[in-house]
Amino acid sequence: VQVIRIGVLGCGNVGAALVDLVRTQADTVEQRTGLRLEIAQVAVRNMSAQRDVDLADGVLTRDAQSLVTDPNIDLVVEAIGGIEPARGYILDALKHGKPVVTANKELLANCGAELYAAADAAERDLLFEAAVAGGIPIVRALRESLHGEPITRVMGIINGTTNFILTKMTDAVLGGGDGDYAATLAEAQALGYAERDPTADVEGYDAGAKAAIIATVAFGAKVVAGDVYHEGISRVSGSEISIADRLGYCIKLLGIVERDAESHEVSVRVHPTMVPKEHPLASVRDSFNAVFVEGDFADSLMFFGRGAGGAPTASAVFGDVLDAAINLRRETHGSLGVLHEAKLRPIDETEAEYLLGL
Ligand code: NDP
Ligand code: HSE
Repeated sequence: VQVIRIGVLGCGNVGAALVDLVRTQADTVEQRTGLRLEIAQVAVRNMSAQRDVDLADGVLTRDAQSLVTDPNIDLVVEAIGGIEPARGYILDALKHGKPVVTANKELLANCGAELYAAADAAERDLLFEAAVAGGIPIVRALRESLHGEPITRVMGIINGTTNFILTKMTDAVLGGGDGDYAATLAEAQALGYAERDPTADVEGYDAGAKAAIIATVAFGAKVVAGDVYHEGISRVSGSEISIADRLGYCIKLLGIVERDAESHEVSVRVHPTMVPKEHPLASVRDSFNAVFVEGDFADSLMFFGRGAGGAPTASAVFGDVLDAAINLRRETHGSLGVLHEAKLRPIDETEAEYLLGL
């Protein structure tokens, strides 16, 4: 049995659920793979905070920097979020020969190319399934199963908080009431769906970051958060929801990435969209996410599931941890390959398609 000692940066919604998952699945993983996964260290900011997680004595540390360079740690999980210090920790971990798993879409959407190149240079994995649509295995599907597919468009409900809010508002409006936006947002925060700053959710930045990552993986193009046209849900009103309903539509916040087959121009946008009630995306309620992929040969595919919350996100992180551990034993690693400069089609308000056809 080979022991893989995991260092986890962060013990919040995602980090704590991951620690739990590793503990409960360690025996099964060992039987199946001959690898024994162990949580060696968990770095946090506040050592005295109350944590609902089972950690052995001495595992919790404030010293994230030592964790990422510690020769006794084999693999690092980054679940602290934000750009710095997460970026620095990931680069250091890779430089010290450790594969990294991250759930950090903000970081990847801003510094992805640098980090993927660092992983290639270090010949180590940098895996990020959880960064897009939480527990839905869409990154792996695009990166592996659909690697050769001429993908034309990917559309997704890729922010759980806003889908939760829009669902509650719609139910309230159709039930004759008016949905209380602030109370619904607070509910999403309490459930662990929302970002540290929920503006990222409601103004479409979070979905924009995920859309940039989808475009990068689907088209092999360098697309960053700043390339994404985005509008959030803060201007969606009850009367718009009601009108859309009467016309046979519901309002969803969609992330849409497209590539023109001839010009190879890529466009990436996030905005509220009127989705026909018969479209599969219309049935996606509450904090659920779904990603609808269209390709020339595969036709249409839809991936559905929990896109936010500690446990579903930890499930995706854990799958990556296992893959990275197996690759480490085999002395191999994955790569996104060569990313080319994106030929971006600029989008402005007049070009955003607020009405989706069937
Ligand atoms: P939380 O805010 O719940 O947890 C963050 C954790 O990181 C806390 O334990 C915090 O410590 C720790 N931390 C923050 N800064 C530092 C630092 N400088 N050094 C050491 N530890 C630090 O975040 P989440 O778990 O919700 O999210 C983590 C990541 O996962 C983010 O990138 C997020 O975008 C991503 N993600 C989250 C999803 C979700 O549904 N929650 C879904 C998909 C991705 P302390 O506890 O002491 O404050
Ligand atoms: N805040 C995000 C959401 C978490 O609501 O979808 C998952 O990325």
